Order: sequence, then C-alpha cells, then structure tokens
Amino acid sequence: MTPQDGRTFWFRDAVVYQIWPASYKDSNNDGIGDIQGIISTLDYVASLGVNTIWLSPMYDSPQIDMGYDISDYQAVYPPYGTLSDMDELIRECHARGIKLILDLVINHTSDQHAWFQESKKDKTNPKRDWYIWRPAKYSATGERRPPNNWRGALNQSAWTWEEHTQEYYLHLFTPQQPDLNWANDECRHTLYRDAIEFWLKRGVNGFRVDTVNLYSKPEGLPDAPITDPNAEWQNGDSVFCNGPRMHEYLQEMGTIFARYDAMTVGELPSTPRVEDVLRYISASRNELSQVFQFDISALGRSPDDFYARSDFSLQQLKEVVERWQRFIEGTDAWPTVFLENHDLPRAISKYASDRPEDITASGKLLALMQVGLTGTLYIYQGQEIGMTNVPRSWGHDEYKDVIAINYYRDAAARGSKETLVKALDDINFHARDNARTPVQWTSAPHGGFSEDPATTPWMRTNDNYTSINVAAQEQDKSSVLAFYRHALAVRKKHDLLGKGEFRLVGREHEKLFMYIKLPQGSSEEEKGERAFVVLNFSSEMQTYTVPEEAGGEEANVVLDSSVDGKRGSLGPWEGRMYIYHT
Ligand code: NOJ
Repeated sequence: MTPQDGRTFWFRDAVVYQIWPASYKDSNNDGIGDIQGIISTLDYVASLGVNTIWLSPMYDSPQIDMGYDISDYQAVYPPYGTLSDMDELIRECHARGIKLILDLVINHTSDQHAWFQESKKDKTNPKRDWYIWRPAKYSATGERRPPNNWRGALNQSAWTWEEHTQEYYLHLFTPQQPDLNWANDECRHTLYRDAIEFWLKRGVNGFRVDTVNLYSKPEGLPDAPITDPNAEWQNGDSVFCNGPRMHEYLQEMGTIFARYDAMTVGELPSTPRVEDVLRYISASRNELSQVFQFDISALGRSPDDFYARSDFSLQQLKEVVERWQRFIEGTDAWPTVFLENHDLPRAISKYASDRPEDITASGKLLALMQVGLTGTLYIYQGQEIGMTNVPRSWGHDEYKDVIAINYYRDAAARGSKETLVKALDDINFHARDNARTPVQWTSAPHGGFSEDPATTPWMRTNDNYTSINVAAQEQDKSSVLAFYRHALAVRKKHDLLGKGEFRLVGREHEKLFMYIKLPQGSSEEEKGERAFVVLNFSSEMQTYTVPEEAGGEEANVVLDSSVDGKRGSLGPWEGRMYIYHT
C-alpha cells in the first residue's frame, strides 16, 4: 500500500489491548479503576506483546451507560483522573512504543451535556437543532404517540416526551443518551473539533468509533418494519443503520484522521453484507481503517432479543470466521480479529468450556485460534489470563449494567418464577457484566483490584479470582498468560499469520476447527511459507493429519497447547500450530 496523504497504515501491524477503565485497576482505593492504575500496569501491557491500547470512555459522564453517555468531551470523569493524567498516560504509552486510541462516542451525548441542556430549553434555542426533536402523533382516540415505532436499547420507545417544550427527542440507546443531529453542519463540525481534533492534538493515535453507522438518519424517520407483531416497539436497525449520508460524514472525518495518520476502528452493527462493509473500510475511500463486523458475536444470540440464548454449532463458527477472513481478498480493505469486548460475554464461556478443569485449555485454544488469523488483533482485558463469565449462582442484584437491570425488571413485571429463572439464565450467559468484573490481578481479596485489598470494588469480582489471576500466572510457565505471550511472539515472527490468506480445512468436521494460512496474494500451488492450525473444540480426544499442502509430516510445530505434545492427536480443548516452508 502506498502511503497517501500521510497515512502509513501502521494499524495493520497493531495488536490492540482494550482497557475498560472502571474495572481495570484502582490506584486510589475508591473501588473504581483509574488512569493512574492503568499507568502503573503499562510494563505488564507491553510485556504481553501488544503495541496499542484502546481505552474505553474515560470522559466526564453521569455513567448511565458506563461512560458511553458523555457530558463533556474535553474533561475526564473525576474518579478516573484528570486531563493531566491523560497527558501522562499518552506520554507513558509512547515511551514504551505503545500507541493509544480512545473511544469516540458521537452518535449521542449524555442528556447532561451542556448542548442538550441548551437544546431542551426552548424551540428557538440555537442548539435546538443539534438533537432530533419531533412533535407527537395522536391516535384516533386522541392518545399522544411517539413520532414512529422505533425501539430503544431498553426495549421501550426510542423517543422520550419532554414536557417543557412539548416535543419528543430521539434516543436509540437509553433516554439519557439523546441522538445528535448530524445533519446540522455546525453540530457535526463542532464534534470534529471538540471530540476528535482536541484529542489528536494531545497525541492520541486514533479512535474506536462507537456505533459508527447510525449518524445519518433516514429522511422522514419512517417506521421500522414489524418483525415482532406482539411488540409495540420494533427493531429499527434495517431503517436507521447505514443511513443516506453516512459515507459523506465519514469522508469528512477521514480527511482529519489522515492528517494525523490516525487509526480508526468502527463499531458496525447490523451490517451483514460484504459490499456494505467494504464501503466503510476500502483504503482508497479514506473513511475508516477497519471495523468490527458482528456476525461472530451474533452466534448464540437471537436477532430480536439481546439476551435470548440460542445454540450454535462449530460449523457456524468456522463459516463466520472464514467469511470475515476472506472478504478482503482482492481488495484494499483490512479486517479485525476479536472475540471479546466490554459488551460481550467472555469467550471461554461462549465458544469453549468454562468448567474449572477446562478453563486453561480453553483460554489457550482461543488464543491459538486468534493469533493465526489475518487482521488487527484485539485482546480484551483479562482475556489474556482466561477470565470467564460470572457464576450462575449470582443474584440479579450483582449485575450493574443498565441493560441487564432493565431486562430483569421487565421479566419481574411479567411475573412467574419460571420467567425470572429463565431471565437470570439469559443474563448470566449474555450480560455485558460478564466482561465488566474487576481484572483479577492477585489472589488477595477482590482479586487485588484496589491497592488496599480491604476496598470493595464497585462491582463484585468473579469468584474464581483465587485460582485465575495475573500474579499466579506470572509464576506458571503453563499458564494462559504465558501462552499468550508466546503466541503473540510467534505471530510477530511469521507475517502470514497476521497478514496471510485464510483457507478453511475440514469444513464438515464437527469437533475440529482447522485452517491453513498462505502468504498474502499467493496461490495454493506457489512455494513459500504455510501455517496449519488445528483446534479441538470438544471435550473428547481427536485425531488429525497435517494436510500435504501445509507440509504434512514435515511441518514444524510452533505453538502447542496440549499437555502431552503427541503429534496427530489433541486432548479436550487443545490446539496446535505448524509452520512449513515449501
Ligand atoms: C456501543 C458500546 O460499545 C456500548 O457499550 C454502548 O452501550 C453503546 N454503543 C451506546 O454508546
């Protein structure tokens, strides 16, 4: 790729570690993670072999949605620290060769943001048009109704009535997160200046861009199609995702990002078609560096109900991985590789086995699967030590996320004991809280999350911290942590792992996930390096042979998570990677 307009495409070599600040490390014993806590662990982060940090929102916020409701883009949430702590974090990251990207949350603000406070004052306020206000509709019987049938994140209408000015405002997430009106030029350009350039000038290296396809609302805000006839409010993704002016806005932003050689990774929900995804990330279009496409996280989840659980097969997993590995072939676009983030269940619990005896093997298996894949690789805090979902025995009051709380409240309103048990089953599997428990640093009380172990964290630590924690794994050569370090070093050494072409092997196999990697742009027949990865996604022993095109018996093992190292067979949840030069 030839660098144009200052872009070096450095993100193609990035391995990103996501930090979700509230639960990462508490340096001042208030039970909440903070920026100084992050700074104190930067040597640890660097030691993993990652070279970029994505920091989830640390901006000032009333924390209705854990910082995704920003009340000031240029201030830090006081319990996390100050602007000068952020400057120190940027400096300390750079001193270690680590780049830092922030979360850019610009589809909506908090309702406490000064802009919204102005906007709601009166219909002629200069900021009125910065948000999306509409008059009510009235039913035949004169009942006041929202302007359309869109559903918000809490399963209610996406519109809230505001008494003072007698209009509804739109919020695709919670009522405390009003959507900004991107069609207003002044609003949009102020965001570019205050939320984007402000931070780029301070030295950050880019952004993870929240809900990147929602900014441009469709003309006339039409009703969503009725996909759930029993519900009052309907899922509007097909109407409001990827709206008409999306790419115009992103090209405006792209010129700013290019000036700073910034990396961007957009969160791209509800965009299943390859051609639609490519439009966001084709390098020649200069919009985003890459996106998170969510087919993988949709596995096991019903499309219309955030929490309802459904089964999925290994074959489905393989096909999703294959599709989103191969879609860039012959293009100038770049993919991402991720299994976890702050919105998703822990990968071990979802894709492998979190029975205590399987956790170590499962953590390594997923590490092995990921390090062989092409794209920018993302690791979420705690994934590198094999953190798991919270135990099913936890009561509903241990869950702190607004969505979980609301889901349980709705179930309670519906009544029966069975409904509540089922609600807790679903929450336990899917809740965002699973990813949000404090990082397990040591076996001290609460996992050593706060400097003083007597401090109770804002959210309960997963009960398994006594056996799963960083300190214990630092001492153990066979730990998940040691495996991650080794695996990332292997990835760095062999270009075809992070940059090559993916070929699925044994598509029909129900227990083994196997793939070959070829150097980018080469054909199966050409000479060169080959990798072969074999992963046992089952609790039974499996046998396999290394395919001839990947070197057969002559291929060398470079990563092995098995206990007995026996070529040709793998125990429960074990995996192996081979490299061969033809
Ligand atoms: C996606 C974020 O990842 C999630 O945590 C948040 O609730 C919504 N966007 C709204 O900003």
